[in-house]
Amino acid sequence: MNAMLSERAQPGTLSNPNTFAEYLTFVFKTDVNAEAVSDAFAKIQIIEKSIGQKDSTADLSFTVGVSHHGWSTAFPATAVPALLQDFKAMTDGERNFPSTPGDIFIMIKSERMDLNYQAAKYLASAFADVATLIEDIQGFKYLDSRDMIDFVDGTENPKNAARMNAVLVVDDLDIHQGGSYLTVQRYIDRQGLWDKQATEYQEQVIGRTKLDDIELDDDVKPAWAHNNKSKVIVDEKEIKMLRQNRPYGNAMEHGTMFIGLTASPVTMSTSLQQMIFADSNGDYDRLLDFVEAKTGTNYFIISQTLLDTFAD
Ligand code: HEM
Repeated sequence: MNAMLSERAQPGTLSNPNTFAEYLTFVFKTDVNAEAVSDAFAKIQIIEKSIGQKDSTADLSFTVGVSHHGWSTAFPATAVPALLQDFKAMTDGERNFPSTPGDIFIMIKSERMDLNYQAAKYLASAFADVATLIEDIQGFKYLDSRDMIDFVDGTENPKNAARMNAVLVVDDLDIHQGGSYLTVQRYIDRQGLWDKQATEYQEQVIGRTKLDDIELDDDVKPAWAHNNKSKVIVDEKEIKMLRQNRPYGNAMEHGTMFIGLTASPVTMSTSLQQMIFADSNGDYDRLLDFVEAKTGTNYFIISQTLLDTFAD
């Protein structure tokens, strides 16, 4: 793994979430003109540059992903990344991970919600002839990077070289190196039910303390804790993912945008299966008693190399 590889990644692939994020999901219209699609992709970096220069301290970035379903319309001349598949729905008991539409996903990150909104408006207009914007979610940093269930989220994310290893694709065509597999799920919190639980139980559900975000000792952490069930271990070695989650919503309805990036989508599907399917002891991830997935879509965050093929 080297610096060259990180230069092949869209910068937002490896960076931390900013204070504000806006997440756009587009679905291609039928029978769109290939040149019009290509023109829309060419506008992405033009818009990023124009709005980004209004305030360089705002650190504006766009990160663009395309699903298997959208791939041949987006990039008819480029092979699909080797492991890209559409999200497969999963169900066990009361728990559901639905699979929902999405051809293009653009994550806008910056320190200013107003710039994100303006960028979203221009991106929606750039794609209007070829794709329909079906979801636009505005996320934000809550307190000290907490989810709205009041626990700090993101602590165990890998850093530096370990992050590059966990996230960036190496083993694929040259054009896909520096890309990344992305799973997006929008969750809604069952806040009323969560708030009725004792803090000690909430801590067991997450596997960490609430105030100070310290991992519970193995002898007190239940098998069904979120940080046990979501952790992927292969041959006694932990395989990390990068989560760029942000909460969204308001006092009436809110939740988490789960934004999970991996070098191999097998890591993600293993984590999701461990969470949702009850094991032989009947244990599943008890966080799923309190949050409900409303969407689920897989994308490939294209390499900067592929994105640059659309630049003038
Ligand atoms: C509403 C949805 C979710 C919420 C509120 C949530 C919240 C959290 C929190 C509070 C932590 C502990 C702090 C940290 O290390 O970041 C955590 C850890 C983690 N979560 Fe989630 N999470 C959600 C969904 C998911 C999903 C869908 C996955 C995987 C597909 C996942 C994977 C992980 C992983 C891998 C860890 C780190 C485990 C470790 O190594 O200790 N999470 N999550």
